Amino acid sequence: MSDTTDTTGVKGTAGPADETVSLGELLGPTTRMPAVKPGRRRGAATVLSAPATLEADAISAWFGDHKVLERVSLTMPARKVTALIGPSGCGKSTFLRILNRMHELVGSASLAGRVLLDGDDIYDRGRRITHARREIGMVFQKPNPFPAMSIYDNVTAGLKLGGVKAGREDKDRLVEECLTKAGLWKEVRDRLRQPGGALSGGQQQRLCIARSLAVRPRVLLMDEPCSALDPTSTRRIEETIHELSEEVTIVIVTHNMQQAARVSDQCAFFLAEQGTPGVIVEHGPTDAMFNSPQDSRTSDYVQGRFG
Ligand SMILES: Nc1ncnc2c1ncn2[C@@H]1O[C@H](COP(=O)(O)OP(=O)(O)O)[C@@H](O)[C@H]1O
Ligand SMILES: [Mg+2]
Repeated sequence: MSDTTDTTGVKGTAGPADETVSLGELLGPTTRMPAVKPGRRRGAATVLSAPATLEADAISAWFGDHKVLERVSLTMPARKVTALIGPSGCGKSTFLRILNRMHELVGSASLAGRVLLDGDDIYDRGRRITHARREIGMVFQKPNPFPAMSIYDNVTAGLKLGGVKAGREDKDRLVEECLTKAGLWKEVRDRLRQPGGALSGGQQQRLCIARSLAVRPRVLLMDEPCSALDPTSTRRIEETIHELSEEVTIVIVTHNMQQAARVSDQCAFFLAEQGTPGVIVEHGPTDAMFNSPQDSRTSDYVQGRFG
């Protein structure tokens, strides 16, 4: 398999061990910004890290010797929502997992190409794997809160995993802020000590979004986040995506064309034809992808003629 020779060394590249950082550091002056809606949060500093542009450069991917992606390049700009669309099996989830170094968790997996976060390669040997995952969060298809853990502890769970020390007051502030951003605060403010598993599916998904936001990601990847949800919860998540897009770069995989049209600024259409690896057939502004696609396969797909 000669074309795997340039495969990025994804194994054993975790880099130096993560140091412990304080919440104060994470919320430090370089990331301190004014509240999103002045007055809404009276005195509590709403602190954001700046959204980043994520750039995939000639990404190829394999499971063993099965090549599933072929030189996929895509720029996912800061403050924009990018939707990844295409039939099942064309490599959308694999691509998403490569964007935050989860692909390498599969023993047989390898990849080639680069992923740049504001110009820095997240696969650089000197970079910590945990750093990439903290900066680039992931929300999965099936809501996966820790079911027995309280709503409050679910939100702060990532801090501990990320080695962030935080005092009670900081945590209270963070929990309120993240639940507010995820559009869940008003529904759960009076029952923060109840288990996450007691919430409805749509609320659990918003709790997972709040949990992802707590570590201040600069990019949020979402793999079919609404496919297990009812239409009302789906719309609520779409509103949340819209509200978040100013402060975190969003990349969402969806099979729902109406959803892609509603939430995204740009779309990329993936396709794997007849056992060939997945490629991006076409990408561009969502309007153009739906109303004036350049490739007949894009037009067939967005109009529901296959897939
Ligand atoms: N863990 C895995 N091991 C082996 N093959 C896999 C694994 N995950 C996905 N694949 C294969 O990779 C290809 C792309 O899958 P995936 O990224 O899940 O596509 P999509 O998300 O577009 O449905 C498929 O052929 C799938 O069978
Ligand atoms: Mg998938």
